[in-house]
Amino acid sequence: MRKDCDIWASLPVPAFLIGVNDAIVDVNSAGEGFLNASARTVSGLPIWDLISVETPIAEAFDKARTNRTPLFVNDVDVGPGSRAPLQCALQIAPLQGCPGHMILMITPRELAGRMTQSHSVKSAAQSAIGMAEMLAHEIKNPLAGITGAAQLLSMSLSKEDLELTDLIVAESRRIVKLLEQVEQFGNLSAPDKKPVNIHDVLDRARRSALLGFGAHMKIIEDYDPSLPLAYGDPDQLLQVVLNLLKNASEAADPKGGNIRIHSYFEHSFRLRRSDGTGQSLPLQVEIIDDGPGLPDKIRDDIFDPFVSGRENGTGLGLALVSKIISDHDGWISVSSVPGHTVFRLSLPRVPRGMQLEETS
Ligand SMILES: Nc1ncnc2c1ncn2[C@@H]1O[C@H](COP(=O)(O)OP(=O)(O)OP(=O)(O)O)[C@@H](O)[C@H]1O
Ligand SMILES: [Mg+2]
Repeated sequence: MRKDCDIWASLPVPAFLIGVNDAIVDVNSAGEGFLNASARTVSGLPIWDLISVETPIAEAFDKARTNRTPLFVNDVDVGPGSRAPLQCALQIAPLQGCPGHMILMITPRELAGRMTQSHSVKSAAQSAIGMAEMLAHEIKNPLAGITGAAQLLSMSLSKEDLELTDLIVAESRRIVKLLEQVEQFGNLSAPDKKPVNIHDVLDRARRSALLGFGAHMKIIEDYDPSLPLAYGDPDQLLQVVLNLLKNASEAADPKGGNIRIHSYFEHSFRLRRSDGTGQSLPLQVEIIDDGPGLPDKIRDDIFDPFVSGRENGTGLGLALVSKIISDHDGWISVSSVPGHTVFRLSLPRVPRGMQLEETS
């Protein structure tokens, strides 16, 4: 009969034994190769400092630990230290008989020349929008002609027939509005980033929502007043928050609903990008509503352009949100069940050197 340690050493994939506080207790030899470091030098170090995962995972990991359930994560970019990340599947399981200890196994999927998923989604969105922009431009002229002709025609029509020309004019206006939105999307410039107090942005969004589309909603502020400054374009971030508040207000019962705007600091939130660079995104803003939740049919595609669950929706709101957040090197995620939908923004703080400049 083999000993446990032989089995551990023979595992063909990088495997880590992780203790409470996410510190590495042991690593097998494939894991040493993966980290390019010996078990002795890495033991005791926090696992998420040594390997970073493109998807924020620490929270799900904690949940798996608390609930003592296994966790499988497929197709994520995992990067050890300075090396370019690899696409991997993660298998995580609580260690039997050792409460709080977890086993993490990483199976790299060697796929040469692969595009990361987020990249391909982004470029798909971009080409869809490029095409739509071109069409928008081309459709506007003939549409103006149609509207003009309908208006001329209406002068010589009886009252009953007027209804039809009115319909032509009204529907054409609706198309023009949609086209203008598409064009606005294409015109979005690169963010003009500066230190921003994110609470000012949230306040502006909240007030304008309550005066307009969100008049039927109750919007609760739940801010962490000690939050440091974010690094972003205040006008674009305002657009993001307005879009999220608008969606929550539109999804709610017309009689009203509740939105909570929650800001907090999460020191450990890091994002590892497919090009090997990592970024800390410690500022968190959640827009939480108690509406019906995302429709099942579109829940996987809501960030794509022209995906809408509403009759008159253009489906551009969240595509715009996700473009702005990605231009800010931030992260957006969503979790939704009926009665509790959370859109979470994770943003970078002001770069350190710059903060010094600001204060000196
Ligand atoms: N908070 C939410 N609760 C329930 N469903 C939502 C929520 N936010 C977004 N959705 C769903 O996601 C869809 C896509 O949203 P998105 O903002 O991209 O487009 P839209 O609101 O339909 O149109 P537009 O924003 O261009 O007017 C919405 O139509 C809606 O079905
Ligand atoms: Mg919207």
